[in-house]
This record gives sequence, structure tokens and C-alpha cells, in this order.
Amino acid sequence: TKAGFPHFMIKEIFEQPKSIEETLNRRVHNGIIDFSDVLSDDEINKFDMIHIVACGTAYHAGLQGQYALREISRINSLVEIASEYRYMNPFVNENTLAIFVSQSGETLDTLAALKEAKSRGAKTLAITNVVGSTISREAHNTIYTMAGPEIAVASTKAYTTQVTIFQLLAIYLAEKKGKLTKEKVEKLVSSLYSIPEKIKTTLDNTEIIKNVANFMKDKHNGFYIGRGVDFATALEGSLKMKEITYIHTEAFPAGELKHGSIALIEPGTPVVVIGMQSNLLEKTISNIKELKARGAHIITVARKSCEEAIDVSDEFIGVEDIEDVFSVLLAIIPLQLLSYFTSVDKGIDVDKPRNLAKSVTVE
Ligand code: F6R
Repeated sequence: TKAGFPHFMIKEIFEQPKSIEETLNRRVHNGIIDFSDVLSDDEINKFDMIHIVACGTAYHAGLQGQYALREISRINSLVEIASEYRYMNPFVNENTLAIFVSQSGETLDTLAALKEAKSRGAKTLAITNVVGSTISREAHNTIYTMAGPEIAVASTKAYTTQVTIFQLLAIYLAEKKGKLTKEKVEKLVSSLYSIPEKIKTTLDNTEIIKNVANFMKDKHNGFYIGRGVDFATALEGSLKMKEITYIHTEAFPAGELKHGSIALIEPGTPVVVIGMQSNLLEKTISNIKELKARGAHIITVARKSCEEAIDVSDEFIGVEDIEDVFSVLLAIIPLQLLSYFTSVDKGIDVDKPRNLAKSVTVE
């Protein structure tokens, strides 16, 4: 049931504090992260490369995973779209840890990619939300997200729990490989535990986002931009907007727009900016100025306290403060809400948008 909410999607957006906490609780005991049931120390010592393979929103979670693995654990990884991976003759062998991300655990291309990696000797891990799903049965081991059933076609709580798993895994592997002190691990874990409360702050205050949605509803196109891992968040925000509002949006690394696509900016073109990476903020702000000079309507998601971003934005959505690498879990929430409210304003069947099915079991 929708538990009093008008749609499953908004119910599932609001469930995220709980589903993230349950995903953390499933893997953290007395402050210690444990993945030993799915990955032995021998396996951890053996792999020299991680492949992350998925489709759609799960692919975006994979991009977040790659960033966390690089930033926190200094481990090299490759992220690929499953329908490409399976035909690309990938460099995969017995020294590869291959991770397949799928909410449903039934996506055909992801399953086929898994079989491909497995046949070439890789250790295969699934991250899925559905116990006993085909992908979980095919993989050597499975890490379950604790999102509970996700009914809306547009994925929300499955995504944030997938990202949570990658954050935890990155810390776990970093610790195993001697790249983080015990104190640092404790600090990161407690920071992850602060996320549910910090998400609630955004959920409790949706008025600004509703106003932005009211502006978006009459638009036919727009952009999402961000630098570093904020680009992955931009991709996910843009996908949410497309699938449930039918507004054509495109995501770009903030510095790339000027290499052609800025030609599409007209007075009033909405540009959603994600500005959570502190070291890149100044660069993003100068991109905002370039866009404003061409008439773009700037909607920025950044830390509440980010005066520089407030000054240059037409609309500003502030989120709580946290380490840059975890901030992706806070920044995606207003983007989910923005697409939801825009969809409702347009009178679209939010939970069942046209042309889409919840799980894609065809090639
Ligand atoms: C987007 C969405 C799709 C799925 C994709 C993969 O909101 O729901 O992009 O993420 O079809 O599905 P799973 O995760 O079930 O493999």
C-alpha cells in the first residue's frame, strides 16, 4: 500500500532514511563493517581490478561506487553499461572482482554480462534488492540492499541503498588493504550513520522544490551539470526527470558544456547545478556565470551554508553538510523530489510512466 501517500514514488522517496539505515545495520555491527560472508580475505588479496556493471539507475550507482572506491580505497575500477559490457570482449579474468548491480535482480543484459564475467573466471558479486532473484542465484555471492519492495518504476530508494553499499564496501576494502586507520574508519562509519537524519531535513522542507517544479513543468528541455562525482548525481537526476516528466534533459560534466552543447542555452533554459565537491566549487561557479550570461535559469543544489552558490543562483536548494564523498546521498534527494513534483504538476502517471516497465527482461 501507499501508506497515505498519493503515489508509490513519493512514499519510496520518504522511506530512504529508513532503508539506508537498515542497509547500514545489515552490514555494520558494533561499528565494524562486515562483508566477510561475501568476500574472503584471500579473494580481497587476489583481485587487482574491479568491474562494476549495470543498467540505468543502477549504472549510476555504479559510477558512485567507482568514485568511492577510488577516493576512499584507491582501488582501480571500471564501470560499464551491461548491454555494452557483454559484447565488448572485456579484460576480465580470475583476478577481477566483477560486481553486478540490479534492483530487481532480473535485468537480462546485466544477467548476461554476469555470465560472461563468470565464464572468464572472475569472482562475481551481485548487489540486488530482491532475495532469490535470478542475478543473485547466478552470482557467486550477493549483497542485499535493504530497501524493501520498490514499486514505482522510477528507482529511488534502491539507488540510495546501492550507493550506501558501495560506500561501505569502499571503507571495508580500504581497511583490509591497510589504507585507512581504525580511527578514520570509525569516523567515516559514524558519518554514514548521520545520513538518514540529514536526508530528513530535505524531506521536511519541500516548498522550494515545489516552486522549482512549477517552473520546470512548462519547459521542454534542460541540463544537469556537476563536476567529479556530482556528474554521476547529475546523470541520475536527469534520468529521473526524463522518465517521469518527459522533459528532455541532459547531464554534463560542468566543464564540458562549453564544448558544443552550450549552443542550446536560451533565455530561461533550466540548468540544474550540483555543487557538493568543495575543491571544485570555484570552477563550477565560473561555469554558472558562463551559463547565466547566456540567460540560463540556474537551479543549484549545494550545502546550505554555500554563500558563493546562493549568490549566483536563481533558485537555491540547500542540503546538510557532510564529507564530499558521502554528499551524493544528500544531493540526490531534492533531484528526486523535483522530478516527482514536476511529474505531478504535469498530470503524468508518476508510478507508471509511458513506455517503461519496472524490470527489463528483454535485450
Ligand atoms: C530508472 C530505472 C531503470 C533501472 C534499470 C535497471 O529509474 O528504474 O533505469 O534502474 O532498468 O534495473 P535493475 O536495477 O532492476 O537492474
